[in-house]
Amino acid sequence: MRTVISGGMVITAEGSRMADVLIDGELIVGVGATSEFSNMTVDRVIDASGKWLIPGGIDVHTHMELPFGGTFAKDTFFTGTRAAAFGGTTTVVDFAVQSRGKSLREGLDAWHSKAEGHAAIDYGFHMIMSDVNDDTLKEMDTLVAEGIPDFKLFTAYPGVFFSDDGAIFRAMQQSGKNGGMIMMHAENGLAIDVIAADTVAAGVTDPIGHGLARYSGLEGEATHRVIRLAEAAKVPVYIVHLSAKEALKSVRAAREERLPVYAETCPQYLFLSIKDLGDGFNGSKFVCSPPLRSEDHQPELWGGLVRDDLQIVATDHCPFDFHGQKELGRDDFRKIPNGLPGVEDRIDLLHDGGVVTGKITKERWVEICSTAPAKLFGMYPKKGAIAVGSDADIVMYDPAAKHVISAATHHMDVDYSCYEGRQVQGASEIVLSRGNIIVEGGAFLGREGAGKFLRRDRAEYARREL
Ligand code: URP
Ligand code: ZN
Ligand code: ZN
Repeated sequence: MRTVISGGMVITAEGSRMADVLIDGELIVGVGATSEFSNMTVDRVIDASGKWLIPGGIDVHTHMELPFGGTFAKDTFFTGTRAAAFGGTTTVVDFAVQSRGKSLREGLDAWHSKAEGHAAIDYGFHMIMSDVNDDTLKEMDTLVAEGIPDFKLFTAYPGVFFSDDGAIFRAMQQSGKNGGMIMMHAENGLAIDVIAADTVAAGVTDPIGHGLARYSGLEGEATHRVIRLAEAAKVPVYIVHLSAKEALKSVRAAREERLPVYAETCPQYLFLSIKDLGDGFNGSKFVCSPPLRSEDHQPELWGGLVRDDLQIVATDHCPFDFHGQKELGRDDFRKIPNGLPGVEDRIDLLHDGGVVTGKITKERWVEICSTAPAKLFGMYPKKGAIAVGSDADIVMYDPAAKHVISAATHHMDVDYSCYEGRQVQGASEIVLSRGNIIVEGGAFLGREGAGKFLRRDRAEYARREL
């Protein structure tokens, strides 16, 4: 099957130009001047006049079916990846979970079973490590060889995912040797739990207590600590879901020292604030960790994206219904499952709130949503590029289309939207995954199970000279 996408503006992290794109089967085989391929025999021509062609979005932080707080994140690999596709994302990297007392292998096998035959777009896995011991350290090497080169550890959630500094350091040393990368959830969970208990004892049980207890300075403290642990262990470290200016300051300082330190933020920290947590129990819709911050953190985060202190915007998509799931914490904010939906909205929110407002260029938008994730997470140039030899994961984007985000129209399997009623400019009109049109004109044309597992490369890019 040969396809030409003609008359569009190809936007990549490096620059933009009017160009036609030739696809053969699953791959891009030509990127040429407009009409360069007009004499070729092709099976399909897609007219992209007036539209942008961008590499498919890559969301490196999702939690399909994550067990949390006595329930499970609602989207399955099918519903979650289908929603991602509607929003212009053609690759996700989800977090497989090692349950306490079980092996990494058992956790990984469980995630393969959840995804295989169900994901509608290509997917990879990171591994959440709950126990660090001689056996799991050995397993890390095996996983790296199997294309799972990154491991997430937590200084938060005592009793659940929390690891102490010694355990984190051991995992870091192992990854320093095996070519992998460490991802850190950096909040001081031990101190936060004390403050949260004090908050409840003082009579604050509503969701706002979640935001009040999780001080931004305690994210800053943990971020600084794990960066210095990683420096000592000689391993690249990636700070997930960075929300606070104090944490950003530590990342920036480390990068100025040319340490291999990287970080992502998420749309919720750029567009939402602690005020959203303050609307009685309705605020539970916005409970995630780290929590939403006061608005003065937002310009700092945007500045971080502009200056490349932050390299990536990922969603931390972790949806729980308001009814029946968030309600588990009606009497105590500590029992509200942590996480927000967002995999479908990222590209449009960043276009509307970043490109349209002039905060970032359209090329930087492509970089933080697709190219940088591909490079840092061992998928480039197969993914994250519109170039000869790359997978034909392409989004035909209408930068002028306007639409209103709503739970009534979104495709995520969750009963609310954090952005209900918000009008955004920009929409994915046609989405191709490895040459196949999977979304067109608001309809899903893909297939459950069409997504393939991505064996990703070691974190060589993260080890390059900064
Ligand atoms: O609130 C969040 N972020 N839930 C998902 C789990 C995690 O910490 O990433
Ligand atoms: Zn986390
Ligand atoms: Zn997460």
